[in-house]
Order: sequence, then structure tokens, then C-alpha cells
Amino acid sequence: MTDRDHIRFILNGREIAVPEVGADQTLLDFLRLDRRLTGTKEGCAEGDCGACTVLVGRLTAAGLRYDPVNACIRFLASLDGCHVVTVEHLSGPDGRLHPVQQAMIDHHGSQCGFCTPGFVMSLYALWMQTPEPTEQQVETALQGNLCRCTGYAPIIRAAVAVSRYGTPASDHLTTERETMTARLSALRDGRRVVTGPEDNRAILPADVDDLAACLLEHPKATIVAGATDVGLWVTKFLRPIGPAIFTGHLDALKTVAHQGDDLHIGAGASYTECQSLLSRHLPHLSGYWDRIAGWQVRNMGTVGGNIANGSPIGDTPPVLIALGAQITLRRGDTRRTLPLEAFFIDYGKQDRAAGEFVESIRIPLPGPNTRNAAYKLSKRRDEDISSVAAGLSVTVEDGRITAARLAFGGMAATPKRAAAAEAALVGQPWGRDAFETAAEALAQDFTPLSDWRASSAYRTLAAQNLLRRFFLEQDGAATPVQLETA
Ligand SMILES: Cc1cc2nc3c(=O)[nH]c(=O)nc-3n(C[C@H](O)[C@H](O)[C@H](O)COP(=O)(O)OP(=O)(O)OC[C@H]3O[C@@H](n4cnc5c(N)ncnc54)[C@H](O)[C@@H]3O)c2cc1C
Ligand code: FES
Ligand code: FES
Repeated sequence: MTDRDHIRFILNGREIAVPEVGADQTLLDFLRLDRRLTGTKEGCAEGDCGACTVLVGRLTAAGLRYDPVNACIRFLASLDGCHVVTVEHLSGPDGRLHPVQQAMIDHHGSQCGFCTPGFVMSLYALWMQTPEPTEQQVETALQGNLCRCTGYAPIIRAAVAVSRYGTPASDHLTTERETMTARLSALRDGRRVVTGPEDNRAILPADVDDLAACLLEHPKATIVAGATDVGLWVTKFLRPIGPAIFTGHLDALKTVAHQGDDLHIGAGASYTECQSLLSRHLPHLSGYWDRIAGWQVRNMGTVGGNIANGSPIGDTPPVLIALGAQITLRRGDTRRTLPLEAFFIDYGKQDRAAGEFVESIRIPLPGPNTRNAAYKLSKRRDEDISSVAAGLSVTVEDGRITAARLAFGGMAATPKRAAAAEAALVGQPWGRDAFETAAEALAQDFTPLSDWRASSAYRTLAAQNLLRRFFLEQDGAATPVQLETA
């Protein structure tokens, strides 16, 4: 089968074909500069403010699914086969405002208006998924939308009231669902897409085997999954990324499943796509997951990307290492599996050969005697990067600690286990003394950096206190909380 040299997707109501899509071309630039759809705004160009929020509809195993995403860091090439919905598509053919828009007006949810289209799109997605949300659900949905004028209260009131203005059943994304599903299915032709100029090529493999083949052909290519890191390389650092091999459309990389005693997470599964499985089997990750970025970024960003970028402050490695996760890497037809902690060699250096990619993550489910916790400390509660993150798993049998896996982010050049603290716990009776000794030992494990997020001394003390907190919580003395202040 020959390669396709253009991408095809549905923009609002119209199918379009775009040739010569460079790897680094963003959806936001395409919408505003090429299509003059200027309702979608550019605020930060780094996925933080939500002014650029649009909905992306995509066929999944469970049917057509719409999620809000940030157009500023979403690459155009990744939209092949999708339905992109912008704020211009909300009002009906008669020009009447959408229920979300009318609710925002009636509740004074807009002042200068710059952020408003982004809020409207996030609230539209929320209303479609949860027509009568609680305030808490609204707050979670709006983590990735910033407003400098309203103080949020009017927006939250509008969001809670939307269901009084209309129901999703009569919304055109619902009434046209079957037609749209058929139109999107017709766009799938199983071909590899190779588009864009030679020095800025975008490649969309036909399937995962083809991904392996593409990476052998272009071992130095940039792998782009959700682009929530790579997008910023382009918009903030003006770095060339071509040739880039996109993976976000590959369903087989998105598999999430409970298999035997393990959870299997495909490297291409977004945070949102794994959330319900993780919350069901690992409830201690539930609140933690909502602390990762904001809704739009969680809809795009993948666990595989979080691991592969090797950041010492990525939120998933500490909690996955504590659980004993393993990752499988693939190069061509050859696979190898290693403990996640072994993947992180040094700052910016991971155990990944040219042409190799992360295929999946396997998480063994903890037994009934293992107590688990996940903590994130950041300056802001929402939409912020960790100063310190911790995954703690401690097994207690007959009152004695028989195993301990304590992993931290933000404490070293890589996500890392606290070997001395673990050794101080194992073999000890479960109790305050053991954790005090472990907290002291933890100071030998790390020499953290001072930076604008936190000082070295703060990080050390905070990590020690997380151990103490873990003991108190597990012993029933304290209420579990998600800490935010660094
Ligand atoms: C506004 C904002 C807030 C954020 N907040 C947080 C946060 O709270 N916590 C946090 O941890 N992170 C946060 N991030 C960072 C980012 O969202 C995560 O690191 C995310 O998981 C990256 O995944 P991705 O799919 O977007 O990766 P991409 O950007 O597509 O790729 C990241 C890196 O991984 C490589 N890669 C991707 N997939 C594979 C693969 N299968 N095999 C090999 N290499 C691969 C890419 O080549 C690249 O080097 C935030 C980002 C933004 C923009
Ligand atoms: S412009 Fe701020 S998130 Fe996209
Ligand atoms: S209304 Fe002005 S930034 Fe939100």
C-alpha cells in the first residue's frame, strides 16, 4: 500500500484534506492563520491557560469520544482521522447561542472575554460527559483554564446551571453521532501517512508494527505521543522536531487492561484513558491522578511520554516504581522488559536505544498486606509541576515490615528509590520508631537541588515528613490529604 501524503479530518462540519503538514505545525496556528477561526485564542502557547481549548472527537473501541485539548501544543498532523470542534461550531444554524454560552452570559461568567471561548469549550465537554456536575467536578474540569477577571465563582455557577438551558441529548454532537462515526470510519484507510517538507516530515505509522519499522528507518526521529512535552519544545524553544513519528492515533498502544495479577498500560494511553482502571485497582492513585496537569493535558499526555522524557519531576515514575512496575521496550521485533527504575540512568539519559520505543507498562497489583500511598507537593494545587513527589509501598506481615519500596521525584537527577530508608524499615516492627529511623536514613539517600520550586533543605524535610505522614495515615491517626504547598 502506498503512503498517503496528506492528512484528512473533519473540521466542525466539513471534511478537509491538508497536504504538506510539517511536523511542527500546530492546530492553533492552522485554525487561526489558515482557517481564520479566531475564536480559539492563544494565551500562553504552552498548555497552561486553556484559551485555545477545542474538542477533538476520535473513534475508540468504546465508540466516538470527544475530549477537550489544547490546540496550542497539539500538532496538526496528529488530527488525521479526527473531528475537531471549535467554538464557532457551537451556536445552532439559527445563530442561537449554545446552552453553555447562554449560561455564561446569564451568570456573568465573562468580563474581558479572552479566556471565555476556552472556558466554554471545557464546559461544553463537561456538560456532554456529566450534564449535572457538582462544583468539585466543575473545578476539576476547569483546572486547565485560567481567567484573570472573573474570580471563577460566576463561571462555576454558570457551569452548574447549564443543564437548565438544554440537554446533551439535543446537542448536535449527540444527534449527529452516528453520521459522524460513519464519516470518521470512512477516513480510516490503514495507510502510513508521510507528509510535510523533507526536513520537517510528519510520519503517522499505519499500526504498531509499522511504528517499529518507521523507527528502524528513522532511528533519530522524534517520537510524538500526546505532545504535551514535545509541543513546548516547538512553541517555547523553537526546536526543530522533524522527522517526527506520531503515535497518538495507534489504538493498540492505548490498551489498558487488568491481566491476571497485573495492570497493563499501553505506552500511548493518555492519563484520562487509564484513570478509571487505575482508580478501580489502585485507589490511592485516584486523587493523585487529578493532580497531574489539567484536564486538557490529561486528555493528551501519556504515561509512556511521562516515562520516556526522563524528567526527574515527572509524576508517574515515583508511584509506578513504588508499585514495582516494569516497562517493555521494543526495537523492530525485539522486545526487552526492565524494572522501571532501571530505565532512568542519569539526568536526561535513559536506557533506550536509537530506534527503540516504550511499548507498555506492567504494574503488579499489590497484595492485601501492602499499604500504598502517593503524594505530590507543588506550589499550586492544580496544574503545577511537583516540587517533591513520592510513591510509598510497604508490606507488613504479622506486625513486621517485610518489604518497602519508597520512590521519590524531585529529589535527585532521576526518579529514584530511597535505598537507605527502605533498609531502615525492612525487618522492623510496624511502628513510629521504624519510620523515624527511616526518615533520618532518607537524608543519606538524596542530595536534592535548590531551585525556584523548592530549596534542597525543604525537599529533604518534606520527603522525610511524607514518610512520617504515611505512617500516621496508615496507622489511622491522620486524615489522608493531597498536599499542595511547597
Ligand atoms: C500545562 C502542562 C502541565 C503539565 N503538568 C504535569 C504534571 O503535573 N506532572 C507531570 O508529570 N507532567 C506534567 N506535564 C508534562 C507532560 O504532560 C507529561 O510529561 C506527559 O506525560 C508527556 O506525555 P506526552 O504523551 O504528551 O509526551 P510527548 O510530549 O509526546 O513526548 C515526551 C517525550 O517522550 C518521548 N516519547 C513519547 N512516547 C514515547 C514512546 N512510546 N517511546 C519512546 N519515547 C516516547 C518523546 O519523544 C519525548 O521525548 C505538563 C505539561 C503541560 C504542558
Ligand atoms: S494558549 Fe494557553 S493553553 Fe493553549
Ligand atoms: S474574562 Fe478576562 S481573562 Fe477571563
